[in-house]
Amino acid sequence: MVTVALVGLGDIGRGAHLPALLRSPEVRVVAVADPVAEHRDAVAPLLSDGVAVGASLDDALAAGPDGVVLATPPWATPELTIQALRAGRFVLAEKPVATSVAAAAVYDRLTDAERERLQIGLTYRHDPALARLKSWIGDGVLGGPLLVRAHVYDERRDPANPEHLDRIRRTLAHGTPVVHEGAHVFDWLAHLLGPGALSVDDAWALRTDAGLPAPNLTGARLHHPGGHRVLAEFGWLTDTLPRCELTFLGPRGLATLDGGTFALRLRTSARAEDVEFPGERGPRCFDLQVARFAALVRGDAAAPAPDPDLAAGLAALAVAERVATLAMDGVTA
Ligand SMILES: NC(=O)c1ccc[n+]([C@@H]2O[C@H](COP(=O)([O-])OP(=O)(O)OC[C@H]3O[C@@H](n4cnc5c(N)ncnc54)[C@H](O)[C@@H]3O)[C@@H](O)[C@H]2O)c1
Repeated sequence: MVTVALVGLGDIGRGAHLPALLRSPEVRVVAVADPVAEHRDAVAPLLSDGVAVGASLDDALAAGPDGVVLATPPWATPELTIQALRAGRFVLAEKPVATSVAAAAVYDRLTDAERERLQIGLTYRHDPALARLKSWIGDGVLGGPLLVRAHVYDERRDPANPEHLDRIRRTLAHGTPVVHEGAHVFDWLAHLLGPGALSVDDAWALRTDAGLPAPNLTGARLHHPGGHRVLAEFGWLTDTLPRCELTFLGPRGLATLDGGTFALRLRTSARAEDVEFPGERGPRCFDLQVARFAALVRGDAAAPAPDPDLAAGLAALAVAERVATLAMDGVTA
């Protein structure tokens, strides 16, 4: 059994990480921590006797866990990550790895040995749908080059849920949706399209409500050294949202990834395939992520290095920031 502390009991900490950790037969939760008493109280009924409940990472480390899961905001995560790694723990740290490339420079302080203990919470990378899509692309089922259209819309504005609106507004104050959602999407694209970084050709942003702290809709045109083109859009906080999906169009076929469920659809002149993997995408990916982290902590031969690693998190952040910067250059209101 790998022992784990969960630090950060907000939305994703208590909604996804804690349930996945408690479901895992490979992991035992020994501590949880959050500075907000309400957040600690909300998880108390789920915890078995003996789990230490504290306010800080220091409190969680005192329980002596093998690993620490950081479900903290990106402005807090870098320093907490460094502290937990310096304390000799394995760390699964939420994405994005920082709020900016400049803020991520603190990771330069890490030694190679410390980096080898750091897995990044690019959770959906673990989904079997991405592996299937990667094999379709790699095997040439779609042909190439590809036109990728990524329409990533989430966080619908719901006036009946002021807590949600408040939380997303606060997140927006730290960057447009591409900084937060792009961490996932640009990681998927790097993984799917193969070696070489995405370059941003141009970008745009739009604030649909003057009261919002930053534009809530943004997008970009990008290209990949493999010859692929990407049109990416990200949006939050409109009363209705467009469909969330990614399409991969090549000369031989079209693959569609449903952004919500990760159901896959393949159409070529010779083949029609619809693929759905068991269970819901969220729990499925969080469970696989915990299993991968447990294997890293145990030092399994199949998990000799963290996956996804810090380099993947930094690469996705760099593309997302480039989009955000170029987009804001053109924003006057
Ligand atoms: N992997 C995914 O699919 C996924 C999904 C949603 C959110 N996220 C990421 O998870 C992170 C957290 O998002 P959220 O929506 O849960 O935010 P949140 O604000 O709801 O929760 C963050 C929690 O961290 C706590 N916290 C803040 N500073 C702390 C510190 N120094 N020590 C301990 N706890 C601290 C806060 O009190 C809060 O409870 C963000 O980076 C977000 O982008 C990832």
